Order: sequence, then structure tokens, then C-alpha cells
Amino acid sequence: MMRIDILTIFPEFFTEVFDFGIIRRAREAGIVEIGVTDIRDFAADKHRKTDDRPFGGGEGMVMKCEPIFLAVEDLLGTAEREEYPAGTRVVLLTPQGRPLDQALVKDLSDEDGRILIICGRYEGIDERVSEALVTDEISIGDYVLSGGEPAAVVMTDAIIRLLPEALGNESSAERDSFSDGIFDFPNYTQPRNFRGMEVPEVLLGGNHAEIEAWRREKAIDKTRKIRKDLIEGAAVEDPPIKK
Ligand code: ADE
Repeated sequence: MMRIDILTIFPEFFTEVFDFGIIRRAREAGIVEIGVTDIRDFAADKHRKTDDRPFGGGEGMVMKCEPIFLAVEDLLGTAEREEYPAGTRVVLLTPQGRPLDQALVKDLSDEDGRILIICGRYEGIDERVSEALVTDEISIGDYVLSGGEPAAVVMTDAIIRLLPEALGNESSAERDSFSDGIFDFPNYTQPRNFRGMEVPEVLLGGNHAEIEAWRREKAIDKTRKIRKDLIEGAAVEDPPIKK
């Protein structure tokens, strides 16, 4: 079973987000266990202070390192990166991280893995957390959130749906957008005519080779139009045929 622990100063943020759909089912099936740790429980003073003013001056507050070290120590038995149990990943979510993409999600998605996710506040987090504790600094995109919490939900969702058995047989991770470097093809369902908008004729004919070719073409067209950079990196000249 995979175990994911989220370290946050807003534990209530996560009370219901993991109670739906694929994530709920994966938790109920014992494929993944998600824990939420309140960093504030590890604050040393009676005011449970987890941030303070920056050394050197300047705007904003900085998250203190001590409560985070204590929380990691509590979860892993050590705050020494070299002593973490094999395969443990300690992720800091920050806009100053490696961009999350499907390849990185795949790399993090280990059915027996252990991931700690530290949600930083946007103003900053004492650098000693990165220096001593963190194995992966990750950003979910080039924009700034007020904290890592929404990013933790995004990353957790993407990881869990790749775990073996997490998806029902009606869906497949192999067919997802990005699994072969380009977008998924466009889909249509009933009704055939909606307010004058018709379902493409080819999808109604039952010619599977033709449908396959059409889907491939549309997927490439749409990717080229919206994400030219993906086309340049994808093997679209000699395409693997999608199942
Ligand atoms: N925290 C603030 N902004 C973030 C981002 N873009 N990705 C991950 N964590 C963040």
C-alpha cells in the first residue's frame, strides 16, 4: 500500500477533498492511505507559532523550520535525509520547484511508496527545510498559489490514479492525455444532434481503422493548435497506435 502524508498548517483544508471518486475508491480498497499532519502540533511555544519575520529584513513572514523538522521526525523516525526508509520522497511544494508533469507523476507513483508532502506558504519557508529534509522541490505550474495545499491535492490525485487497480476497467491511464506525449482525442456521446451540432460522421460508421486514424489526427491537430511545444517533443511522425 502506498502512504501519503500531507504536512500543513491548514489540516481542515483536506477534510473532504479525498472523499470522492477514484481517490475515495482507492482509499477504501486499501491501495493508498492518506494522512494529514498539522504542523502547528509541532510548534514549540504556547502560541503554536509556525512563522516569523525574515532575517535580513523585508516583507512577509517565513515558515519556521523547527516544527517541520519535528513533524518529519515524528512521521519517519528521523530528520536526516540519508536515514529515510528506502524509497521515501519528501516533497516541498513551491513555485520555485521542478515543474510537475506526467513523467514526474509516474516517477512518484509507487504502489509501496511513501511520500511526505510539505505545503509551504507563499511568502517563504526557511531554506534549511530544503537543505536538509526535502528530496524533491516541485511546482504545479508557473503561477503563484497562496499555499501548497491546492497543489498537494493536484499532485496526490495525479499520483493515485496511476497506482495499479486505482482505475476501474472502464477507464485506462494508458489512454490519458500525455501518456504518449500529446492530448487525448475528442469524445462525443448521445445525442447525435444537439442544437444543430452533429457528432462527426466517422464515429457512427463502425469502421474501427478509420475511427482510429481520425482520432489520431484530431489529437495531433488539437495538440498542435494549443500546445505546439508538445508536438515537437512527441513521436507523432511514427505514432504508437492508441488502444
Ligand atoms: N505554492 C505556491 N505556488 C505553488 C505552485 N505553483 N506549485 C506548487 N506549490 C505552490
